[in-house]
Amino acid sequence: KVVAVIMVGGPTKGTRFRPLSFNTPKPLFPLAGQPMIQHPISACKRIPNLAQIFLIGFYEEREFALYVSSISNELKVPVRYLKEDKPHGSAGGLYYFRDMIMEENPSHIILLNCDVCCSFPLPGLLEAHKRYGGMGTMLVIKVSAESAHQFGELIADPNTKELLHYTEKPETFVSDLINCGVYVFTPDIFTAIQGVLTHREDRANIRQVSSFEALQSATRTLPVDFVRLDQDILSPLAGKKQLYTYETMDFWEQIKTPGMSLKCSSLYLALFKITSPQLLASGNGITSATIAGDVYIHPSAKIHPTAKIGPNVSISANVRVGAGVRLISCIVLDDVEIKENAVVLNSIIGWKSSLGRWARVQGNGDYNAKLGITILGEAVTVEDEVVVINSIVLPNKVLNVSVQEEIIL
Ligand code: GDD
Repeated sequence: KVVAVIMVGGPTKGTRFRPLSFNTPKPLFPLAGQPMIQHPISACKRIPNLAQIFLIGFYEEREFALYVSSISNELKVPVRYLKEDKPHGSAGGLYYFRDMIMEENPSHIILLNCDVCCSFPLPGLLEAHKRYGGMGTMLVIKVSAESAHQFGELIADPNTKELLHYTEKPETFVSDLINCGVYVFTPDIFTAIQGVLTHREDRANIRQVSSFEALQSATRTLPVDFVRLDQDILSPLAGKKQLYTYETMDFWEQIKTPGMSLKCSSLYLALFKITSPQLLASGNGITSATIAGDVYIHPSAKIHPTAKIGPNVSISANVRVGAGVRLISCIVLDDVEIKENAVVLNSIIGWKSSLGRWARVQGNGDYNAKLGITILGEAVTVEDEVVVINSIVLPNKVLNVSVQEEIIL
């Protein structure tokens, strides 16, 4: 049996995702019309003998309750949300719920970060892991040398694929091969985490000899039960024939900012062409409007037949799109109204917002720049003919004059 665990983190972790994380936990933000974590959850469903999927985080239980019950029913696999009383770190959180994870006596545990976007080649990862015979195997990818420092950089043996060296976000370049945040472990991972905890307790006991030193270490170090998978487990176990790597040649991105969510939405829409073409507007005849490229439209949305939509557009529930509207590269969230002849380009339109006639909301499409896409928070009103360019607008604002390169607080 296999169980999957998705680390969803908590509210303090989502700050770079503002203003989109005010009311919706980041892991539930829709990409290509589905909550961020649904993409890895659907991928888990393709693993033979999958018994359960756990989401571990420190968001309030009620924020995930509705989602876990609906997705469990839909996929016919139990999905459970487990809430930590406080953050324990990416390995500590896993360890905290070890008894529940081991309830069904799984032989393997798939561990996933919630904020990565890729094709999740999990069956291949699992097969490779069984061949290597170690404690864990991680998905890795080659990225540009300039961007590698944002991730865990690593060196792997070119023949055996063993993880030889691992450094988390190093200041000086180590390697352009990086950690994708997608792993498979045997239950021995719990013994490894236990080892880190025991070692820390021993050191803490020795330190108590000198109260000055104890005070110093208390202010300098993390809580004793906080264990990071990367620094505390992967780094020390590299080169010990316990950890191996599996390289993906598909796409991979990390979703830390709203700009990246727009990019990842387009990657998932493109993936749907292969995995689930019936979800795309061109493949399901959901609208008589003109569709260009990959587009998702929720069945409850009302689109005027003279609108032109795409490529890379996701339209959520109850959205109304008027005559002559043009939408390109955008995410339009629930209950938005877009009136006649408005244009949206490289933008995210927040829940319940409204765009007036001939309004124009656009970004320049630089997904990595702070103001490269325009983001309207929840319930923003853009009045008729108003133009909003490369800006971030916080919830409940009314824009009656045009703005450019601004953050409207
Ligand atoms: N439940 C829980 N509790 N989840 C947590 C906690 C915690 O205390 N801390 C982090 N997480 C979750 C985050 O939500 C995320 O899904 C994952 O664990 C990793 O988060 P971080 O530890 O903040 O690391 P990161 O995202 O900056 O970088 C990691 O992922 C990269 C790939 O996206 C590292 O492993 C990098 O090496 C890797 O390249």
